[in-house]
Amino acid sequence: MTVQTSLPTVAVIVGSLSKGSINRKFAEAVGRLARGKLNFRFIEIGALPLYDYELEAALPASVAAFKAQVAEADAVLFATPEYLRTIPAALKNALEWGARPYGQNSFAGKPAAIIGTTPGAIGTAVAQGDLRSIATVLDVALLVQPEIYFQWRPDTLDQNGEFADEAARKLLHSWVDRFTHWIARLRAPVQLAQAS
Ligand SMILES: Cc1cc2nc3c(=O)[nH]c(=O)nc-3n(C[C@H](O)[C@H](O)[C@H](O)COP(=O)(O)O)c2cc1C
Repeated sequence: MTVQTSLPTVAVIVGSLSKGSINRKFAEAVGRLARGKLNFRFIEIGALPLYDYELEAALPASVAAFKAQVAEADAVLFATPEYLRTIPAALKNALEWGARPYGQNSFAGKPAAIIGTTPGAIGTAVAQGDLRSIATVLDVALLVQPEIYFQWRPDTLDQNGEFADEAARKLLHSWVDRFTHWIARLRAPVQLAQAS
């Protein structure tokens, strides 16, 4: 029996293309909290062409690289903004490429989780609800609790990029522990009960 001891790698997909994205800063800060437990690797989606099934015959290099990075990771984390009460088009596009061509879904079977932040009061809850629906057809094993609907403020992070607020740190620490445990459960060798 092989027991995996290396830190699980988490492919982090940020739904925003903006350089100053608060969701990127948020995910980076969560990654700092997860040090020693999870290894966050940010996967970029900005260079992906808009999905077109006619491109499937010869996958563009950016798409092939994106799909390979997702496939290599032990888990996936989506850090999404909410645009017009749903997920950004750029993220939806990346999900479409990840799921295609038919039979080559790079996300299939991956442990996954969703986080998101906005200055708005409902903390990306509506966008995350949509992403949860999509997750079912992406065939990921989604961590459903605890939910992280985070209202961003200018002072959310301190000058080191760490969560300034103790309550936020505690919440996100416990989320990191739950996600780490979730990934470990799904990576564990399956022992099938012997049919008697
Ligand atoms: C096109 C567009 C639509 C938006 N719609 C929402 C929304 O539905 N809910 C929300 O909380 N914020 C909304 N916002 C504000 C975003 O939460 C805010 O721009 C945030 O900084 C986006 O995250 P990012 O910095 O990671 O891109 C919207 C912003 C844009 C540009």
